[in-house]
Amino acid sequence: MIKVLFVCLGNICRSPMAEAVMRDLVKKRGLDDKIEVDSAGTSSWHIGEAPHYGTRNILKKYGISTDGIKARQLQKQDFEEFDYIVGMDESNIRNIRTMLNQPNHPKIFRFLDLTTHKKDVPDPYYTGNFQETYDLVIDGCEALLDKILEDIKE
Ligand code: 4NP
Repeated sequence: MIKVLFVCLGNICRSPMAEAVMRDLVKKRGLDDKIEVDSAGTSSWHIGEAPHYGTRNILKKYGISTDGIKARQLQKQDFEEFDYIVGMDESNIRNIRTMLNQPNHPKIFRFLDLTTHKKDVPDPYYTGNFQETYDLVIDGCEALLDKILEDIKE
């Protein structure tokens, strides 16, 4: 099983959106017996909460389920457990590296660095623009799935 973990600050806006979109994509490609997806936050602020209303709302618009998604905090053993640890922005990457005590491991990387955007995923908790975030999350998830399929071919 290939295991993917998306990480943001609160684990209620961006990383659960990426989790839901990636899971949907994996299912549609018939890869759900090969790829498992989860998400976590670097903060403890929203542990146990469902995704933010804005995230649930935009995903609903595209027919993507958020059932069963609940916020949790990143923990040390996630480093051993996951094959891809994907931060939504540069500050997430810094926090992940510190929390997992892994200053330079290639399995920890910034989501949109896989795409031509090469930038942070804007945080809709502050921008209010869940559509902009969703559009970038779609691009990122497609790029990540391509990368995983390429990696497992080797
Ligand atoms: P997220 O957004 O990291 O994409 O889940 C945030 C959610 C909550 C807060 C900040 C960012 N907060 O300050 O509670």
